[in-house]
Amino acid sequence: MQVLTSVAEVRAARGAVTGSVGLVATMGALHEGHLTLVRRAREANDCVFVSIFVNPRQFGPNEDFAAYPRDTQRDLELLQAEGVEYVFMPSVEAVYPEGFGTSVDVGPIAEPLEGTHRPGHFFGVATVVLKLLNIVQPTRAYFGRKDAQQLAVIRGMVRDLDVNVEIVPVDTVREPGGLAMSSRNAYLSPAERKAALGLWNALSLAREMWTRGARDAEAFRRRMRELIEEEELARVDYVSVADPVTLREVERIQGPVLVSLAVRIGRTRLIDNVTLGE
Ligand code: PAJ
Repeated sequence: MQVLTSVAEVRAARGAVTGSVGLVATMGALHEGHLTLVRRAREANDCVFVSIFVNPRQFGPNEDFAAYPRDTQRDLELLQAEGVEYVFMPSVEAVYPEGFGTSVDVGPIAEPLEGTHRPGHFFGVATVVLKLLNIVQPTRAYFGRKDAQQLAVIRGMVRDLDVNVEIVPVDTVREPGGLAMSSRNAYLSPAERKAALGLWNALSLAREMWTRGARDAEAFRRRMRELIEEEELARVDYVSVADPVTLREVERIQGPVLVSLAVRIGRTRLIDNVTLGE
């Protein structure tokens, strides 16, 4: 496995690959969710690139950029064990050299949900992901459904800007109790970890309601919110029942819907989702 830090090194390594290339973009602090993406990339491609870059442009001024968990040594060991060929680990200056001024705006898909609570977040995500796709030029790039809006934003960008890559979505990997794996789970105290199960319990309630035939979206939002707020440590940012493509809220559930939520547990903000009726 080779660790590359400059764009020129990645271009040279990529240029020497004859078969297919899979890319997994990450911010490090790797867990089983990330490693599942890596395994999917490994199975389907001749060569796998993983990027580790905590992207300052997708963090708001009051967010956790400085505190974001970083454990490069462990990350590299995990990736080595998965048989990854190349890890791209650039500095902030290598990605955003002096004079950098472009930002990718994907339009309305970035506005609701996370966009409302994290203004500018998806400009930062779309910009860095487009850069990574241009630098590595992968055949396929793998993204988790855990970040459903991010996936929708990236798909929209790739479609609108004719980026020559196949975007492969990967199902959310969960801990035994249902908590979605996330690098931010490292922030949780034992009591907060217990409170965080409310996210999965609320999504499970939604699935149950759907199975029983409930179709009034507002009833889903209300009951899920009530369930989460039973936990004293939990503060709901949003509970959404939306069209999975446009991300617009629905009134009555007719086709497939994306049920998603963001909840603050103490100082940690967690997101999760399920799609119903797929
Ligand atoms: P990060 O949060 O490190 O996640 C990297 C990738 O792993 C994303 O595609 C994310 O959806 C996926 N992922 C995270 N947790 C997962 C889980 N429990 N199950 C399945 N997949 C999971 O998302 C980012 O980084 C950044 O925004 C990035 C795309 C790298 C751009 O900076």
